[in-house]
Formats: sequence, structure tokens, C-alpha cells
Amino acid sequence: MMNLQTQLAPSHKRGLLLQNPVVIASGTFGYGMDDAKISDMQSLGAITCKGTTLHPRKGNEQPRTMATASGMLNAIGLQNPGIHTVIDQYAPIWATWQTPVIVNIAGETVDEFAELAYLLEGVDGVAAIEVNVSCPNVLEGGAVFGANAEKVADVTSAVRRATTLPIIVKLSPNSGDVRPTALAAASSGADAISLINTITGMGVDISKRRPTLTNVTGGLSGPAIKPIALRMVYEVARELRLTYPRVPVIGIGGISNANDALEFLMAGASAIQIGTVNFTNPRAGIEIVEGIEKFMQQEKVGSITELVGMAL
Ligand SMILES: Cc1cc2nc3c(=O)[nH]c(=O)nc-3n(C[C@H](O)[C@H](O)[C@H](O)COP(=O)(O)O)c2cc1C
Repeated sequence: MMNLQTQLAPSHKRGLLLQNPVVIASGTFGYGMDDAKISDMQSLGAITCKGTTLHPRKGNEQPRTMATASGMLNAIGLQNPGIHTVIDQYAPIWATWQTPVIVNIAGETVDEFAELAYLLEGVDGVAAIEVNVSCPNVLEGGAVFGANAEKVADVTSAVRRATTLPIIVKLSPNSGDVRPTALAAASSGADAISLINTITGMGVDISKRRPTLTNVTGGLSGPAIKPIALRMVYEVARELRLTYPRVPVIGIGGISNANDALEFLMAGASAIQIGTVNFTNPRAGIEIVEGIEKFMQQEKVGSITELVGMAL
């Protein structure tokens, strides 16, 4: 019998045990309310919901997505119905699912992150919080929290004080070296670290002589970012293995099939998230679980934990 279970919060009282390491990335599955999505989802490790803010947000004006070579750019601008709707309308449905739901939160200030976490405390159907530190800090000129280790520590500590739920801190790759921000999150109470969020890019519409996205810049995702994401996951996993061995890493970035997922697991990720691929292949998650199982069978690997960090 093969064991695909993975524990994403080993130091946490309740933990965050997934039936397998395949998780849906934030922003690529909404709140999972589509019927087709719900039935497929039961075989996944977990789903992460769209980034949720304190108040509803309309998001940016169109065009806010564009295709690129091997990926896409998005500047959705965190369109979401706000935390109160999520708690009142979606969480009661999640509470009936077997698959755990991780709520991705985005604040404009440290206090807002803490308030979001506080509001989610004790809400049935919420298994964990993922803290998106890639959003701009309005009190500090819009610089993203995740670009600075001190700010990541401030946000993580504030969320830690506000909730007893497991906390995953999702790092921004736009800081260049992600190791200082990973260490800041781990030392401030994060149960796990996820990375990477999108990489800032842009396109120009040559017929209009203007940037393609109304927002000018957007976040690059998809296969184009996979080697960068893999390198960052490897670096963070090596760093944490020495300093915080009980803080698992969740790998994200351009994962489209089981081989991609296995690369991330071997580079030190205890689980992986899939984002952009969901738009072109809604069955990708299930296919990745099956592909990992097949690999384990062929290679006579009894437990997924044996694969994690093999390439470190
Ligand atoms: C359309 C879209 C919306 C996204 N929205 C969010 C979000 O709300 N919060 C967040 O933390 N990440 C968001 N992301 C980033 C993804 O969760 C993921 O980190 C990134 O896309 C890299 O993974 P991928 O290459 O598999 O897509 C979004 C990505 C896309 C493509």
C-alpha cells in the first residue's frame, strides 16, 4: 500500500494532514463552487481559495490577463467578495467537504492581515490560512510586504497572534533572494512556507503603442517560471532544513504534470500547488496525483515522504 499523505504543519497542535501532496493554487479555482470542480476536488490534497481581502474588491479594469510564451500575465487586482461573504456563504459549504480548504488572505496593512486571520478563527470549513505577502503595503508607499524580511516577520507575527489555525506564508519571488523572507516567516510563527507567487512582467500592444495590461505590469505564471520556482524552492528547503526542519515547504510555479510535481518534491517541497494549468486542463490535479502514484509504484517508493528532498 502506497502512502501519499503529507503533513504540512508538523509543529501545530491539530496539524494540516493532506491525503496527497497536490493542492490547488490561489486564484485559479475561485472558491471551488462550480459543480464539476467540486466532484474532481475530492481526490486532491487541498484547495486554496482566491485571495480574500477585508472588503469586497472589483479588481482592475480589462484587459487584465494576457498569454505569453509558455505562460500568462495577470493583473486581476484581487477581485473577491470580501471576507464576510467568504465566511457566511462559502465556509459552510466547505465544512461539508472532505478536502481541506486553505483561505488565502491579502491585507493592505499589518493590522488588516491580523483582522482577516482573527475573523477566520473557529470558522468551520477553514483548515488553514495562507498569507499572501505579495500585496502592496499602503502605509509604506505600496512596496510589497514580501520584498522585505522585516515586513514579512511583522505580518507573520501579527497573524500568529490573531489565530490558532495553521499558517502558511506565501513568499514573493520579486525580492530576488527568498531565503531571508523564508527565515523571517519561519522564525515568526509560520507553520509552512509556500513559494512562489508570480514574477512581475509586462507586455506592449504594438498596434496601440501602449502596455497591454491596463495595470501596465502583471504577474507571470505558468511553465515559463518553473525553473526559477524550482531553484527558489530548493534554496529555501536547504536553508530551512538546517534552521527550521519542522517548517515544510510547498512548491508552486509552472507545475503542469506529474514529472514537474516530482521535481519539486525532490527539490524539498512537501506538497505542491498548481495554478495556471487549471485553466487549460481542469483535470491536471487528478492526473498529477495518478502520475505520482504510478511513479511510486514503478520505483517501489512506499511513502511520499521518502521522495521529499531527495535531490537536496
Ligand atoms: C489568474 C491568477 C490569479 C491569482 N490570484 C492569486 C491570489 O489571489 N493570491 C495569491 O496568493 N496568488 C494568486 N495567484 C498566484 C498563483 O497562486 C501561483 O502562485 C502562481 O500563478 C504560480 O503558479 P502557476 O505557475 O502554477 O500558476 C494567481 C495566479 C493567477 C494566474
